[in-house]
Amino acid sequence: MSRFSATILCSFLLLIFVPIASNSHAQTTQETYAFRDAVNVPPAGYDGPVFKLSRDYPTEDPGACDESECPWLFVDVDFTSGVPVDWETGPWNDYIMAIMEVVTRGQDPDMSNDMGFQTSVDGETAWYHIPWMAYDPTAGREFVHGTTNERTAHLADFLGSPMPNATPIWGMSEACKRRYPHGFESWAVGAYNKWGGYAIGQAFAADGSPVLVEKDGRMQPAGLPFPEGTLVTKFLTTNATPDCVPYLADSAVWTVNRHQLGDGNEYMCERTMQETRLTQVDVAVVDHRSPTRWVYGTFGYAADAPGETVLERLVPLGLQWGSDPQTFPAVPESDSVPATESVLNTTLDTYEHWGCGKRLAGPVDNPKSSCVSCHNAAFAAADGEVSDFGKNIPSVFGFDGICDIGGSADNADYFSNYQFPAPYPGGDYPTAVPLDTSLQMAVAFTQYAIFKNNGEPTACTNPNQF
Ligand code: HEC
Repeated sequence: MSRFSATILCSFLLLIFVPIASNSHAQTTQETYAFRDAVNVPPAGYDGPVFKLSRDYPTEDPGACDESECPWLFVDVDFTSGVPVDWETGPWNDYIMAIMEVVTRGQDPDMSNDMGFQTSVDGETAWYHIPWMAYDPTAGREFVHGTTNERTAHLADFLGSPMPNATPIWGMSEACKRRYPHGFESWAVGAYNKWGGYAIGQAFAADGSPVLVEKDGRMQPAGLPFPEGTLVTKFLTTNATPDCVPYLADSAVWTVNRHQLGDGNEYMCERTMQETRLTQVDVAVVDHRSPTRWVYGTFGYAADAPGETVLERLVPLGLQWGSDPQTFPAVPESDSVPATESVLNTTLDTYEHWGCGKRLAGPVDNPKSSCVSCHNAAFAAADGEVSDFGKNIPSVFGFDGICDIGGSADNADYFSNYQFPAPYPGGDYPTAVPLDTSLQMAVAFTQYAIFKNNGEPTACTNPNQF
């Protein structure tokens, strides 16, 4: 072939290929990993529900949230009274039920397996998911409901102390403890409303890379803080069964593709379709009246609660808007005042769950922590680094002496109040990127860094934690 014809051929190829390459939406490996629906695909012949990542994030500012969409912002609450508050003497129930009313709009009242949690309500996308949560083969999203694996809840979290109102009805047999020596797994799926989705859409580029901007000499994600109007909800399921945990009777039963139990009922990497039951629904909203700008709330499913449907049998357990920095263990016992930034629903004779020092935590959460303390510690390692708890990001899940050593620096930092974009207290993590309490975003940033550093997900390791 002459040089001339080779050039012609080249131009021809360029003409043909360049436009195709630039117009096509060929996904890069990174984009595929960031936005894939689940770590694995349904098996041949499967005809059940299939999770689809809701990632069509709003590109326009949804503006101020009005009373029809954010009714809780219009409930007259005082988050700064400085005195302990009681569920029955404030409008706390109204506040949390206003949130729940919006969460459940357009959802199946029984949260059936076929319907799951719908992201589309009245033909419009109402809920959005965080990317990168289907990257990690150990804990990443499964294909049925998009749930991810959370820490294994010990039986004690469900039924033992510290649940002051626990009654013998919940007493579980020794046989159950023997049957599940490794506890139960929680698999949960979270979603953000359009105010949250608007922020997420700015924090991640179309190829899944986090978008960071520099402000006052520190890096922070574009789009954060989450605007007022943001509502996040999370539906948590457990593999505990009603014969072990009676209050789960008649709850929604979802089939999720989760870790297979081994011969000793230990959890393994292999995933199979198994029943899980709805046990807890968490909510979080941005409310400028809160000292942390966030209010966290939780509901527990209770079989004996009045109500015809599963959603009606979700009972509010409490709200939390701060970490109570004047209360043990943020300070020594001798200086401690009673907690004033959590309100727990003590009217229930079903079940309760307390976190550290009468702060709020959920039935499947670490009782030595609390919603706001754990979530406020949501930071990502500086750009390019893989997160390492206690090294380049705070020890969000706890540390030696958590909730035990009153006034220790670790406890004082963990149980303190601060708002985005403040660095984590104590000065240990000056370059960590603040994530405005979103621990799902923390998961996403970590997975992205693992991808950037290793090119592929960390292989699954035995998920058994105990
Ligand atoms: C010890 C730590 C810890 C405690 C305590 C905790 N959470 Fe979380 N939460 C997490 C982690 C980690 C995630 C992200 C992983 C996931 O969703 O799978 C998360 C996710 C969430 C989300 C989804 C949005 C987000 O921020 O990532 C909501 C909403 C939520 N939690 C609410 C609550 C509420 C309400 C409580 C208290 C009743 C609570 N959490 C207590 C660790 C905690």
